[in-house]
Amino acid sequence: MAQSSPQQVGPSSSGATLAEMDKLLTDEEVERLIDASLAARLNAYCPYSKFQVGAALLTKDGSTITGCNVENISYGLTVCAERTAVCRAVAEGQRKFRAIAITAEMGNRFVGPCGACRQTLVEFGLDWEVYLATPDKRYMKTTVAKLIPDSFSPEWVTLGERQEGTRYHGCVYIDQLIGLLATCGPRRLHEDTHINAQTLSITITCPASARKQLS
Ligand code: THU
Repeated sequence: MAQSSPQQVGPSSSGATLAEMDKLLTDEEVERLIDASLAARLNAYCPYSKFQVGAALLTKDGSTITGCNVENISYGLTVCAERTAVCRAVAEGQRKFRAIAITAEMGNRFVGPCGACRQTLVEFGLDWEVYLATPDKRYMKTTVAKLIPDSFSPEWVTLGERQEGTRYHGCVYIDQLIGLLATCGPRRLHEDTHINAQTLSITITCPASARKQLS
C-alpha cells in the first residue's frame, strides 16, 4: 500500500506470466506517468476547492495524455482530472489504455477517484492499472476492476448481441485473448485450440463488438 519511495512493479520484480509482463509498466514508465500527471496538476483550474488534481493516461501505443480538474462557478459543472484526460484521449482517437496516474494531495492515505470517474474508466476496460500518487511521488498501485467491483460495463448493454455471438477462427496473441475475456466474460473455446509460447490458435464465439478486438 503506501510507499515512501516508488514501488517495485516492473516485470523484473513480479514473477508474472509472459502475457502479464507485456502489460505491466516498468518502473521508468510508472515514474514518467506520475511525472506527467504532476505536471498536468499544476494546470488545475480549481479556484473554489483549491484542490489540484492531475491525471495522465498511458495508451497502448505508448502515448501519454494528461488532464487536470476544471472547476466552474456553477459548481456541478466541474470536470475531474481523470475525465478531462479520458475526453482528451478519445478526442485524439485513443481508446486503449494501459494505465492512469492520478495525483493529488492525499496526506497519509491514498484516495481513489470519485464514482463518476471510476465509471468513466470502466467504459474503457477493467483490466488496466491505476496509480494513485502524491505530489512527493509516493504511490499506490491498483486496477480499474478493483476500484469498481461488480461494475456496470458496456458488456451488459450488448447482452443480446452476446447471446448470439459471432464465430472467429484464427491466431490471437494471448494478451489479446485475456483482454477479450475481460470484456465479454468466458466464451466457448472449441476443441481445435492450440497454444504455443505467444499465440493461441482458436475458434471462439464472442459478441461482434468484442470480435473487433481480434482483427
Ligand atoms: N476531483 C478530481 O479531479 N478527481 C476526482 O476523482 C475527485 C475530485 C476534483 C474535482 C474538484 O475540482 C476538486 O477535486 C475537489 O472536489
